[in-house]
Amino acid sequence: PRVLLLGAPGAGKGTQSSRISDEFGVDHITTGDALRANKGMDISELGFEFDTPGGFMDAGELVPDEVVNEIVVTALGNADGFVLDGYPRNIEQAEFLDERTELDAVIRLAVSEEELVDRLTGRRVCPECGETYHVEFDQPEESGVCDECGADLTQREDDTEETVRERLRVFAENTEPVIDHYAGTDAYAEIDGEGTPDEVWEDVRGAIEQRA
Ligand code: AP5
Ligand code: ZN
Repeated sequence: PRVLLLGAPGAGKGTQSSRISDEFGVDHITTGDALRANKGMDISELGFEFDTPGGFMDAGELVPDEVVNEIVVTALGNADGFVLDGYPRNIEQAEFLDERTELDAVIRLAVSEEELVDRLTGRRVCPECGETYHVEFDQPEESGVCDECGADLTQREDDTEETVRERLRVFAENTEPVIDHYAGTDAYAEIDGEGTPDEVWEDVRGAIEQRA
């Protein structure tokens, strides 16, 4: 299936995308991870320096469309099915995507603002393997250490409360119109994202199976 996962920062897109990718055997395409993996990369040929300290990402602002569109086009090129996470984030990106592929399922994870802030400020990530944890909701066996690979966990630069608030503001301004853009199509489903990861997954899987 070709799946698009929409939701605010912290709604659980990364958490559910991994499960979708495993269960349906599709590529996980995530602009956020791709950008973080390329931090420090010289993209001056594109005319941007997006990731200097205090750049777009660390400030919670959107990276220019040209950069993320390029990432997505490259990733879609070799993908049969996919789950797209973190893109599109504004109407221009949505129109760009619509011209390049069709979507079987567009899933919106709905979570309240208060819960989003708690999830993001408590998130810890493994810098080695990318596994995600939470200081309360998803603790590793040994505090501060990755279960998968034993590396010390860190906090994302943009998970401070101030930057989280800015990301939520950017989401409301730029990305909520993207949700309206897909709402009302046959592919669209809104899911309550406030249950446990397993509960949310039951609904996500069901919505994809119905549409694929
Ligand atoms: P990106 O990496 O896409 O971040 P985001 O959208 O802010 O999403 P997150 O990764 O923060 O949250 P998530 O929904 O994946 O939640 P997760 O599953 O980890 O983007 C980062 C930056 O890159 C942007 O600010 C921008 O600068 C740039 N960028 C990226 N894409 C772009 C684009 N297309 N255009 C322009 N710029 C772009 O869960 C969060 C936490 O909650 C975890 O700790 C987890 O353990 C916990 N959790 C998850 N599910 C549950 C649950 N059901 N119950 C309790 N806790 C839960
Ligand atoms: Zn790890």
